Amino acid sequence: MANVFSIQERTALITGGAQGLGEHLAERLAQEGCGVAIADLQAEQGQALAERLAQEYGVPTLGLPMNVTDAAQVAAGFDAAIEKFGRLDICVANAGILKSGPIVEFDVNDWRQVLEVDLVGYMITAKHAVRVMLPRKSGSLIQINSKSGKKGSAKNSAYASSKFGGIGLTQSLALELAEEGIRVNAVCPGNLLDSPLWVNSLYAQYAKRWGISEAEVRQRYTDQVPMKRGCTYEDVANAVVFLASDASSYMTGQAINVTGGQEMH
Ligand SMILES: NC(=O)c1ccc[n+]([C@@H]2O[C@H](COP(=O)([O-])OP(=O)(O)OC[C@H]3O[C@@H](n4cnc5c(N)ncnc54)[C@H](O)[C@@H]3O)[C@@H](O)[C@H]2O)c1
Repeated sequence: MANVFSIQERTALITGGAQGLGEHLAERLAQEGCGVAIADLQAEQGQALAERLAQEYGVPTLGLPMNVTDAAQVAAGFDAAIEKFGRLDICVANAGILKSGPIVEFDVNDWRQVLEVDLVGYMITAKHAVRVMLPRKSGSLIQINSKSGKKGSAKNSAYASSKFGGIGLTQSLALELAEEGIRVNAVCPGNLLDSPLWVNSLYAQYAKRWGISEAEVRQRYTDQVPMKRGCTYEDVANAVVFLASDASSYMTGQAINVTGGQEMH
């Protein structure tokens, strides 16, 4: 019997794939035998990762300089992926940024920038992924959303607004493309407590804001999770591989929580 969970010999493009969660997802896709194009603002880092994955896993790879807010660059990146792979089966819209703060102090341009990258960037990525998938009437588009796409997040209004919008976009595209063989879903991770976002910035920010230590901040966020641990890259990767594979062929328009029970809607 064919393994419906297999994505071997398929091809994927992942945005924001040079670092953090995206880097791990790119590696997991390659491990599964899937060709992978790594599109990122950090072009050199993406290129180096592409070369390593090709060597380590023997799959075709490509590093692409890409700012997801620049439609011409995104279009060129998808065209380059098609030229290299011949077809695109999977797109993971992972690129994202986070800026937070109380509403009264929130710089409007910062707020706009979060929406521009996390929501408009997803739209531009989706537009070109769908453009190259439509002729084959087949494809899986996966957005990396967040638990903040399901529930408001204090002093995090830009990020939550963009992620809520991302679920609206996911559902709308799922309806638009249901009869075209293209499935559109999102994964909503909980807090990735070992990611650069937390380690390099959020622990320090929150420790200062609340007058507690960074270790206490981590404990506070761990305690909020029913399973009492942070989300790992591998937790998210398992859901991404499932959504990319034929095992999820009857699923579209879903936003799957990977939160240790923290979010249930
Ligand atoms: N870290 C967490 O706790 C967490 C939790 C839930 C969801 N997420 C989501 O996971 C995704 C990845 O987050 P992360 O923690 O790995 O972040 P990260 O900052 O470590 O990595 C993001 C990557 O995206 C790239 N990027 C940023 N702006 C870009 C742009 N305009 N065009 C192209 N690439 C761009 C960066 O260069 C970087 O390589 C994001 O969508 C984020 O919202 C993260």
